[in-house]
Amino acid sequence: MKTVKIGIVGVGNIGSFHMRNVLGGELQQAELVALCDTNPAKLQRVADEYGDRFKLYDQVDSLLQDPEVDAIIIATPHYDHPVIAIEGLKAGKHVLVEKPAGVYTKKVREMIEESEKHPELTLSLVYNQRMNPTYQKAKELVASGQIGELRRTNWIITNWYRSQSYYNSGGWRATWKGEGGGVLLNQDPHQLDLWQWICGMPARIFAFGYYGKRREVEVETEVTAYCEYENGATGVFVTTTTETPGTNRFEIVGSQGKIVIEEEQLKFWRTVMDEKEWNETYTGGFGEPEVWEIKIPVEFDGNTGHLKVTQNFINNILFGEKLMAPATDGIYGLSISNAIHLSSWQHRWVELPIDEDLFLEELNQRIEGSQDKAVEEKVLNTENTY
Ligand SMILES: NC(=O)c1ccc[n+]([C@@H]2O[C@H](COP(=O)([O-])OP(=O)(O)OC[C@H]3O[C@@H](n4cnc5c(N)ncnc54)[C@H](O)[C@@H]3O)[C@@H](O)[C@H]2O)c1
Repeated sequence: MKTVKIGIVGVGNIGSFHMRNVLGGELQQAELVALCDTNPAKLQRVADEYGDRFKLYDQVDSLLQDPEVDAIIIATPHYDHPVIAIEGLKAGKHVLVEKPAGVYTKKVREMIEESEKHPELTLSLVYNQRMNPTYQKAKELVASGQIGELRRTNWIITNWYRSQSYYNSGGWRATWKGEGGGVLLNQDPHQLDLWQWICGMPARIFAFGYYGKRREVEVETEVTAYCEYENGATGVFVTTTTETPGTNRFEIVGSQGKIVIEEEQLKFWRTVMDEKEWNETYTGGFGEPEVWEIKIPVEFDGNTGHLKVTQNFINNILFGEKLMAPATDGIYGLSISNAIHLSSWQHRWVELPIDEDLFLEELNQRIEGSQDKAVEEKVLNTENTY
């Protein structure tokens, strides 16, 4: 196979972005052959612009029966991600799933089980932020022991501002039944993934979620989560969509160094001696180990990584290139997200792995009480989103 023939499921904001990426020619050895959307107006929009250049389907089943389609990109709202991925795999298609992998881990686990039955098919996730070299370098520094033993992590991610008009642009948005959560499920899947990708999984979480704070929505718009790791390290994750100017600062502290990623720059400091050893041997009272600021040669090129993660998916299908974001990894960040919700709903510590049935029971109660909302459905420009 020289070219991967792609079908996109969901031609809204990000589906249209994927469509332009494939059509733009920057993606190598990929061809767009079909599009699917359950909303006729979205298909009409494509037909108005491109005529009969692509096959248009109003049901995913029909697209999956199309033998010309080798691979699908799933760009629908989150609940359907694992559901369509499972159907896609069963139909023999390679699958690239938008983030998050799903809304609850139990369903994502089913997707992983299905993928294990199809080792010949690629299942990848649009964790485009994994392509950002600053996060890749932070991962390398932590994994190679450059900061010593992990002691503290702190991520303040408040610069993905969302207005009420954004929330009003789609009926599914920010509802329990349509989206299954707010900032944790929509904006933060990237950071929750990178947090665990770089620092490992926390052992337990206590979180405070604020629902409908400063926006007329059912779901959380602000969260502060505190976590503990197996080795005694601690972490804090602070997020909201309602703050401006916002902050995106990720700080990782170890027994022998500190990494800070902010303003797309990575900074790295190292003590000449591990703090534990220094403390055990130093006798001078006040004082602390000598610290070196070390210049790390890494620069973010402004690329949001969508093209790179999609090309990696294509290259994995064609040449077996190592996947940067296997969709099976999607369960980790989602586990943290589910644990944060569960803790904030029940006002208690939640151990990981979480009780998946209990989480689903709690989520279902919220889905039952979920309200329809009047919206003016729009396709928004995703050019400056991540
Ligand atoms: N990786 C990123 O940077 C990024 C950025 C934006 C959105 N996303 C993700 O992409 C997904 C879609 O977000 P969006 O903002 O594009 O939403 P959107 O509402 O603009 O688009 C979703 C589209 O899917 C269609 N759809 C719904 N159910 C369908 C089904 N069963 N079959 C076919 N089509 C269906 C809708 O009609 C709509 O056109 C979300 O899960 C979101 O988290 C990822």
